[in-house]
Amino acid sequence: MQIDKFKVEEWFNEYEHRAVYDLADTCVESLSINELLKITGEKLDIFDRKLNYGDIFGSNRLKTAICSMYEEQNSENIIITHGAIGANQLVYLSLVERGDKVISVIPTYQQHYSIPKSIGANVKFLRLKEENNWLPDLNELEKLVGNDTKMICLNNPNNPTGAVIPDEMLYKIAEIARRCGAYILCDEVYRGLNHIKNHFSISIADIYENGISTGSVSKVFSLAGLRLGWVACNSEIIEKISVQRQYNTISVGILDDYFASIAIENKDKIISRNIEQILKGKKILSDWMSSELHVHAVIPNGGTTAFIGYDLSVNSDELCKKLQQDTGVMILPGSTMEYDKYLRIGYGNNHEILKKGLEIFSQWLKNEPV
Ligand SMILES: Cc1ncc(COP(=O)(O)O)c(C=O)c1O
Repeated sequence: MQIDKFKVEEWFNEYEHRAVYDLADTCVESLSINELLKITGEKLDIFDRKLNYGDIFGSNRLKTAICSMYEEQNSENIIITHGAIGANQLVYLSLVERGDKVISVIPTYQQHYSIPKSIGANVKFLRLKEENNWLPDLNELEKLVGNDTKMICLNNPNNPTGAVIPDEMLYKIAEIARRCGAYILCDEVYRGLNHIKNHFSISIADIYENGISTGSVSKVFSLAGLRLGWVACNSEIIEKISVQRQYNTISVGILDDYFASIAIENKDKIISRNIEQILKGKKILSDWMSSELHVHAVIPNGGTTAFIGYDLSVNSDELCKKLQQDTGVMILPGSTMEYDKYLRIGYGNNHEILKKGLEIFSQWLKNEPV
């Protein structure tokens, strides 16, 4: 199967290990096992567990914890996967076929257009625009959707823009999809990180019968090292996904299952730690933006990243390459997400590094005629 290179991953592979100030990361500062236990007040009781495959479809404890983040889902509506990346891939391999019409928002995580394209689907883009606060234009969506549309792919909150689709708009999108019976896959890997209360937007799986939600503990719980995600959707779709899953998962690791259960059972504690971290980072970033003449952006209201436009003539990958070469500051070029003249900055990580990295970036812009 021919598939396009995953541009963001390629960029990370090339530049991350050399970064002195990494402003490209999308995680909220990751937790150690000790930090997880301290925040949650839990004690480890795993040492006598045999390291076998564990529960093939994930433990009941884990699935029950995941259901607590949804209004309408129970254990039969959840399937456990290797991260959200595994969840998204399983959904596409299970439901999309050659010749199907798939509509994906862009910018988004590249899986959502490159995997359906590799299967032979006809992928159309719903291009998000800064002047619309990076929200989908529903008139444009209506024009793109036809009776033959198989799937609409969303990402809410969005990576890279940090835009959160308002609940009323999500209901309208569900209504558009319902007319032709299309699936909606909503990558909800940042769901739980809305900056205002309630931190959880509604999930597509809770409001639309053909809605499919994917999620994980990587971003919301700062546990990307567990490689644990899930799909939530109706049990008919779960059945289809489980056929594919037999071929690439068997089970997730029992340690991943165990620590993820602890984290999700204590979601309020971890999310409040993470929101505090994100809001401090967002303040550093927005103060920097108001003092930096060359940039413009919509301040994000969810997730961990901002998508920042700039008014210089240099393209974004040249800018980011040279910036990192000269200063060690790593920023992700928008070109990796098919938007040149934009930069993705993550602000959920170490604040000192963020502050210093932005200062160096501004200084470099003053001295360097890019
Ligand atoms: C929108 C989006 N979906 C999925 C993923 C993959 O996440 P996971 O670590 O859970 O596989 C990422 C990771 O950056 C992401 O940003």
